[in-house]
Amino acid sequence: MSTKANQATASNLAGKGRAAAAPPFALPEAADAMREFHFSDADFRGLVELAYQFAGIALSDSKRNLVYSRLSRRLRALSMRTFSEYRDYLEATESERENFINAISTNLTKFFRESHHFDHFRDQIAIPFARNRTASRLRVWSAGCSSGEEPHTIAMVLKREIRDVERQDVRILATDIDTEMVARGTRGEYPASSLDEVPRPYQEYFEPASKPNTLAVNRAVRSLIAFKRLNLMDTWPFKGPFDAIFCRNVMIYFDGPTKAQLIERFTEKIRPGGFLYIGHSESLNGAHPGISLVGRTIYRRV
Ligand SMILES: C[S@@+](CC[C@H](N)C(=O)[O-])C[C@H]1O[C@@H](n2cnc3c(N)ncnc32)[C@H](O)[C@@H]1O
Repeated sequence: MSTKANQATASNLAGKGRAAAAPPFALPEAADAMREFHFSDADFRGLVELAYQFAGIALSDSKRNLVYSRLSRRLRALSMRTFSEYRDYLEATESERENFINAISTNLTKFFRESHHFDHFRDQIAIPFARNRTASRLRVWSAGCSSGEEPHTIAMVLKREIRDVERQDVRILATDIDTEMVARGTRGEYPASSLDEVPRPYQEYFEPASKPNTLAVNRAVRSLIAFKRLNLMDTWPFKGPFDAIFCRNVMIYFDGPTKAQLIERFTEKIRPGGFLYIGHSESLNGAHPGISLVGRTIYRRV
């Protein structure tokens, strides 16, 4: 179970936890009466606490409808009638945590998302590595990789710049808490329409897959990536250091203290001179010792 997430206290949860009196939820309890499943304020607050405890995910009051609709599928699958029944089951059944987290996590992603990061990565990491064969090892971490578009993009950039990259000591670690996403990333198969997101020079790394209207990232590119399930709140079972860490559009789901701790832990795992890439809408909320801003949402380990 989560180490840091376990430290969630009532004060961490202020405004979201039990202490909050009649918060202005998006859909008041009374309006829930017509719904398929009974879903009270207490159910919502209980599930908010569990999401925080299990994954550090801070669900705001505006996520009430989202929580209801995503978890309704679990209630149907388990033939349950009420959210209260589901909460009891979730608290008592460790194996249900995975389904719960898979259901509430938001996995939106695409190839070459926020593409200036990949230009920077190509110029500052991939090309210098290709030119200077004295650096014998290159490590990149895509933390919160969702269905794999981000680590596959990193791998395509490396493959294009480092021609014999498969024979080099070059590895990408791709992790996510959501087991369904990790399985998808490992398969490396995407709808053919995803190719629209991929600049032309990189389209050669896709090939037809067995399913119609589906493309697979080719074996050479896929071979650079190791997909693993990892809750960022837990202990990390690897040493690093990494030349670059991509943690983009993940920390938006965490509160300030969780984010600050995570940035400190990322900083420790980046080699001096290496980079941390975060999402466009994110900021690190103040200075962090050890890293400094060097570009739009790009930080460098000093
Ligand atoms: C919106 S996606 C971002 C995907 C990709 N990084 C991008 O920018 O396109 C956020 C991902 O963070 C993952 N996530 C949320 N909480 C997490 C946690 N505690 N540990 C690891 N991954 C987490 C979710 O499962 C989801 O796949």
